[in-house]
Amino acid sequence: MIGMDPAFVAGATVDGAVLRRVWRFARPYRAMLAAFLVVIVAAALVSLVPPLLFREILDSAIPDEDRGLLHLLAALIVAAAVADAGLALAERYVSARIGEGVIYDLRVSLFDHVQSMPISFFTRTQTGALTNRLNTDVLGAQRALTGTLGSVVSNTVALIANGGAIIVLEWRLGLISLVLLPIFIVPAKRVGRKLQTLTRQQMDLNASMNTTMTERFNVSGALLVKLFGRRSAETADFATRADGVRAVGVRSAVYGRTFFVALGLVGSLAAAAVYWIGGQLAISGALTIGTLVALATFVSRIYGPLTALTNARVEVMTALVSFERVFEVLDAQNPITDRPGAVDLAAVHGTIELDAVHFSYPVDAVVPSLEAVSPSTAEPADPAVVLHGVTARVEPGQLVALVGPSGAGKTTLAQLVPRLYDVTSGSVRIDGVDVRDYTQESLRAAVGVVSQDAHLFHDTVGNNLRYARPEATDAELMAAARSAQIEDLILSLPEGLDTLVGDRGHRLSGGEKQRLAIARMLLKDPAIVILDEATSHLDAENEALVQEALAGALAGRTSLVIAHRLSTITAADQILVLDAGRIVQRGTHPELIAEGGLYADLYRTLLRAEHASVTP
Ligand SMILES: Nc1ncnc2c1ncn2[C@@H]1O[C@H](COP(=O)(O)OP(=O)(O)OP(=O)(O)O)[C@@H](O)[C@H]1O
Ligand SMILES: [Mg+2]
Repeated sequence: MIGMDPAFVAGATVDGAVLRRVWRFARPYRAMLAAFLVVIVAAALVSLVPPLLFREILDSAIPDEDRGLLHLLAALIVAAAVADAGLALAERYVSARIGEGVIYDLRVSLFDHVQSMPISFFTRTQTGALTNRLNTDVLGAQRALTGTLGSVVSNTVALIANGGAIIVLEWRLGLISLVLLPIFIVPAKRVGRKLQTLTRQQMDLNASMNTTMTERFNVSGALLVKLFGRRSAETADFATRADGVRAVGVRSAVYGRTFFVALGLVGSLAAAAVYWIGGQLAISGALTIGTLVALATFVSRIYGPLTALTNARVEVMTALVSFERVFEVLDAQNPITDRPGAVDLAAVHGTIELDAVHFSYPVDAVVPSLEAVSPSTAEPADPAVVLHGVTARVEPGQLVALVGPSGAGKTTLAQLVPRLYDVTSGSVRIDGVDVRDYTQESLRAAVGVVSQDAHLFHDTVGNNLRYARPEATDAELMAAARSAQIEDLILSLPEGLDTLVGDRGHRLSGGEKQRLAIARMLLKDPAIVILDEATSHLDAENEALVQEALAGALAGRTSLVIAHRLSTITAADQILVLDAGRIVQRGTHPELIAEGGLYADLYRTLLRAEHASVTP
């Protein structure tokens, strides 16, 4: 989708709806746009003045030997040049104010909208493609507004001004100069199209090169490349992409220059023709020398605008494509929104009820063009049902452990409580009210989640903790860190709370990261805690620490813990055993052990694993 087919662009018509939306974004700048028009017209008129003054010098001042007039005309030419320069600056200023302003508006609304999207949008979207929208297409949209539309307006005005001047001065000579036009315009149009295609290809290739880089140059990507010894293969792959960029770059440079060389050449030819034919008219006395010079200048000035305008349609279309691509993201529907009349979840007791919850992950693309697989090649499959009628109840202050084999649906089930996804059928209720009837903001404030692979931003330890509560003091941070058993580690770090954690927190071990995430959750102080214990880092030393961390974190809160540690499981008030999306057993540890079945099997496996890790 990134490289638009130029034929498509050329064949498309300007979509009225898109134009109206573009206008909505441009509307706040309408005073500026008016100023822009005024400046452009003024600049075109001022640029007509010098040739006319040259004409006066040649036709009046010099033949009449009128030095006074000569001084005056020269001064006027200087004034016109200064005015022209001033107007050029003013035009640039106004167009930049409009362009940057629109970019700002588009960017901020895109950023905000993307943030509001449900988590399914992010699991399905290619990050590179998304950031590309936020950067390249927003720039393209800006170009559409000020660059392309601006150049259409200014070229039209310039064409009218110069053409009008030619007609007033000597229309027959003007006609002669027009004879040359088709010789230039026809090939210029083709070169223009070609350039358009090349530019699109360039954007496309650059995007693919950037995606490769962003995926490889982060800690996890780099680690993968190293561990699999793929460096030379990666370099070769990158070189291929970069080579494409190089080839297209050379071609577009040559085509671009051809365009301007040809433009200059035709300008010179036109000037020669005007001097040649006009010279004869001058000899026969039908034309003054001054008029001839002025005409030659005006004629040479109409080619640029004319060619620019012949390509304008394609350019406007291409630029509008950027707007459409931005609107496509802005229009992405968010299925998880606050219901009208949604209530705030305040004074939480902490009862969680799952009532016949069925769930399958959404299969419909949110923004198809942003997904890794194009929709044409991948027929939307029937959604696999992940949860088949799960019913359970967690009492306030209880600790419920959710156990089960990998892929059973534990993480999925937990994600339904803070409404990261909506149930397919059935309901999830907190304190007796469906989570879909709460405002999302209050719901997420009440539910603290520590996920399986806790994410830390590339920032200091302190700022990562403060993400939960920006106004927290250092003492509060350390208190939370103490409860999460991560205080000693923070104190041992070279700069304490001010130590940077690497991209995704790679300077910390998995267990440390999770304890930091627990501390972060504690700062938020939610009434309900959902904890997805990491399956890794089950070493015995951490075990005790994490156990204490959990005891501190969960005290007095309703907790749903996806447990992989025996100590967590055995301490639970209730254990839910999930298998293939169904709760197959429930009860306390002694009850379930007595019952046998899947739980007893899982327990024995865990016991063996933990025993093995304690005794090397
Ligand atoms: N975003 C998603 N889109 C589609 N299917 C998904 C998605 N996330 C998980 N699944 C599927 O849903 C099923 C349950 O996954 P889930 O992550 O809930 O398992 P789990 O019980 O947490 O396993 P583990 O113990 O390994 O973490 C799996 O078959 C998985 O492939
Ligand atoms: Mg999981």
